[in-house]
Amino acid sequence: MKPLIVANWKMNPVSLRQAEHLFETIRKGSRGIKDIDIVLCPPFIYLDFIAKKIIKNIKLGAQNIFWERQGAFTGEISPIMIKDLGCEYVILGHSERKKYLQETCDVTNKKIKTALQSRLKVILCVGEEVRDSFDENGKWLGDVDLILKEQLLQCLNDIDESQISNIVVVYEPVWAISTVVMGKVATPNDALSASLLIRKVVSQKYNQKTARSLRILYGGSVDSKNIIDFVKEDGIDGALVGGASINGSEFIRIIKTVDDYCKNFPSSC
Ligand code: PGA
Repeated sequence: MKPLIVANWKMNPVSLRQAEHLFETIRKGSRGIKDIDIVLCPPFIYLDFIAKKIIKNIKLGAQNIFWERQGAFTGEISPIMIKDLGCEYVILGHSERKKYLQETCDVTNKKIKTALQSRLKVILCVGEEVRDSFDENGKWLGDVDLILKEQLLQCLNDIDESQISNIVVVYEPVWAISTVVMGKVATPNDALSASLLIRKVVSQKYNQKTARSLRILYGGSVDSKNIIDFVKEDGIDGALVGGASINGSEFIRIIKTVDDYCKNFPSSC
């Protein structure tokens, strides 16, 4: 499967000038890249100017939407609005929305339905907060496979099989997010077993063919040094990049590293 690299700028950068500079670096650096799909997900407020300058090999995505399409929902953004601006993708279910905004899988499920109805592709995040461990009182915090399965099934509740081709699933272990400095990256093995589990759940809910064609990404402190460890795994089709995507030259290094890898090992991409 053609690798997909998604840049999640989160709430960065904080001025339009910096956003323009970051986008320019990425735009210049990704010219001529054909072997991978690139999606940029900047904050809402920068979508308009980026949409006007976007080039063919970069797609645009938003970081969230509301679950209704229009109406009296103060402060919210409709999927129709971002579609109208030129977005093709939306990130949903990100762990930071779960953590800071108490977003539940039921809410994510409602948003997925509205996004698909608005003909947006969904980048759906699932992941455990801790890895097979106990809390300070010795309470078992859960089995990773079970957590992923529950999240996935709740998020995909009542989603028709025909829509799965419009969904990309990201395995993002919460404990590995934003830890580039501390280096708490999941091992490629962790990511691969999560990806196998995700495919198994999708296969059981839908069928094998749907599961096989599902794009699964890894997200959590990805940078230009570790990206290939993940992408070279058979079941991992790219990455969701947070921190390293707001450093334009580092993001371009990531893109070029994957592009070179695909040129050298076309059968793996
Ligand atoms: P990070 O973010 O690359 O900064 O860890 C990843 C994510 O948002 O999933």
